Amino acid sequence: MSKILVTGGLGYIGSHTVVELHNQGYEITIVDDLSNTSLDVLKRINKITNSSINYVNLDLKNVEATKIFISENNDIDGVIHFAASKAVGESVDNPLKYYINNISSLTNLLNELKDLNKKINFIFSSSATVYGKPINVPITELEPIKNAESPYGNTKQIGEEIIRDLVNSNSNFKAISLRYFNPIGAHLSAMIGELPIGVPQNLVPYITQTAIGIRKELTVFGNDYLTIDGSCLRDYIHVVDLAKAHIKSLDKLISNDDKNYYDTFNIGTGKGTSVLELIKSFENVTGNKLNFKIGDRRKGDVAECFADVSKANKFLNWNSEFSVEDSLLSSWNWEKNINNEKL
Ligand code: UFG
Repeated sequence: MSKILVTGGLGYIGSHTVVELHNQGYEITIVDDLSNTSLDVLKRINKITNSSINYVNLDLKNVEATKIFISENNDIDGVIHFAASKAVGESVDNPLKYYINNISSLTNLLNELKDLNKKINFIFSSSATVYGKPINVPITELEPIKNAESPYGNTKQIGEEIIRDLVNSNSNFKAISLRYFNPIGAHLSAMIGELPIGVPQNLVPYITQTAIGIRKELTVFGNDYLTIDGSCLRDYIHVVDLAKAHIKSLDKLISNDDKNYYDTFNIGTGKGTSVLELIKSFENVTGNKLNFKIGDRRKGDVAECFADVSKANKFLNWNSEFSVEDSLLSSWNWEKNINNEKL
């Protein structure tokens, strides 16, 4: 049985991926420094999987602790590296935090893995943000990488380059970077999901918190874009579909004999949905009327960002299965569940 290290495994995408890895029979060790999550998520994962998943509290920025951890876990076959800070706005205000958190943790981890002198399959959690303002939509992996729109985006560009360079120089490594579009939704058990701290920056948690009464009103950031209805188009992908893309990527890496194999894949649905369409779908699928107003454009937003996913379909043998409606319903069930628990 392959043993997989999941860094940031108690985060939003990490936790869903751990559940899918468990379903596929992988042995898992999670590391997480709990900077943006809590041990409660581990309890929930254990409940869903009816198991007791290995967990170590580790800050990958700590060189010594990372060295000790990797030497004690030198039997790992693969790594899925989620651990990173991810708030675009915060990264603009505090760029060094992002370069230190996202880059030094990656290089520390890779440096220790390199010294194991064994075959490692590595999956990097990247983002559609690497494309910046796309020239063409749907976006293929051939879209030129332009200057990043934020320090966060830059850490994803740099992270991809670091991994590509390491793979080129070291035939023990094979790697895939997955460029996520807009992950939404929650596990169908409604026991794990996205847990934004403070006021949500992303659309779907803002919608569900407005519908449940935590927020008064949603603001739609602009309705004067050159799109079907003036609001921005994004590619909203169910987090469970996204989690499954990691399993398919591991399969691809394990079965690939090509030394120095490195590739990038878009992970989305291939379909653009506007903010106004998403609100309508949410209202239809949940029966809630959403309180929203039209506001100004948000700085840095691009009008349209959705994926061409044919490369992942073909080479990872992966397809998204859930619709936007399925995703929104699961987000809503999760929101209701966490609020019931608080009562
Ligand atoms: N939006 C609103 N009101 C809100 C929040 C968002 O109208 O209160 C709109 C945005 O303007 C945008 C759309 O909803 O048009 C989606 O916004 P999100 O903030 O949910 O997502 P983004 O597409 O801006 O960003 C996401 C991730 C980033 C990642 C990026 C990659 O949050 O981490 O996709 O494309 F970098």
